[in-house]
Amino acid sequence: MNLLNVDSISKTFTIHILSGKIIEGFKDVSFTVPRGTALGISGPSGSGKSSVLKCIYGSYLTTRGDIWYESPRFGRLNLTRSPLRTINQIREMEIGYITQFLKVIPRVSALDIVSAPLMEAGAFRKAARSAAGDLLEQLGIPQRLFEAYPATFSGGEQQRVNIARAIIKAPHLLILDEPTACLDADTTSVVLDILLALRKKGTTMIGIFHQPEILARFSDAIYRMKTDSDRGTIQ
Ligand SMILES: Nc1ncnc2c1ncn2[C@@H]1O[C@H](COP(=O)(O)OP(=O)(O)O)[C@@H](O)[C@H]1O
Ligand SMILES: [Mg+2]
Repeated sequence: MNLLNVDSISKTFTIHILSGKIIEGFKDVSFTVPRGTALGISGPSGSGKSSVLKCIYGSYLTTRGDIWYESPRFGRLNLTRSPLRTINQIREMEIGYITQFLKVIPRVSALDIVSAPLMEAGAFRKAARSAAGDLLEQLGIPQRLFEAYPATFSGGEQQRVNIARAIIKAPHLLILDEPTACLDADTTSVVLDILLALRKKGTTMIGIFHQPEILARFSDAIYRMKTDSDRGTIQ
C-alpha cells in the first residue's frame, strides 16, 4: 500500500518585492511511495527538489495538486488541505525531517537534544538517555561529547546529532534533504547503514542525496525532476 501519493503538484512563489513577479519552484510532480520503501529524488540544482520535500512536510503551501498521506493516527489525509493543527501533530508524531542545514539549540547537551523526542513521547529519562547514547555512539560521536553543547561541535558532529534526533523515534515517514552533505565518506556510509536499517524496520523514506552512489544505495526507486514542463519519471 502507498504511504504517500503525490498527485500533480506544482509550486510557484510570488516575490512581492519584485512587484509580484512569479517564480516557478517546480511543476506537475507526481509519484507514489509504497510503505516501507525509500524514494530518491534527483535532478539539477534549482529543479525544485527541496521545495517538493517542503510541500510534503508542510513548510511550503502547495500551489496545485494533492498530497495523500496514510497517517496511522488520522487515516488517509490530503496534506495540502489539512488543518494546521493536524499537520503540526503529524510533524510531531509521525514525520521526521532532516536537512543539510544545522539547527543547533544553545546550551542543551547532545544527549538531551537527542533524547528529547522520546521524553516528549512519555519515555523515562534514564531509558531515553540510554537510547540516545547508543545512537550517538553508533554515529561515531565520542562519549566525552555526550554532555557537551553541540553549538561547539564541528559541522559533521552537529549533523550527526541532528540525524540522531530525527530518527530516535523511528518516524513513520522520514524526509531527508541532503542529510550527508557535510559528512566525510566514512560517516556518510555509517549514516546510510543506519537509514537502511531503519527502513527495514518499517520507516518509509524520501530523500535527496548529492552523490549518485549514495542515492543509488538509498533508493528503491528514483524520481527524476525535470526543469522543463515535461513530467518527471520514476525509474
Ligand atoms: N522561498 C522561496 N522563495 C522564492 N523562490 C524560491 C523559494 N524556495 C525555492 N525557490 C526557487 O524555487 C526553485 C527550486 O528551488 P529548490 O527547491 O531549492 O531546488 P533544488 O533543491 O532542486 O536545488 C529555485 O528557482 C529557487 O530559487
Ligand atoms: Mg535543494
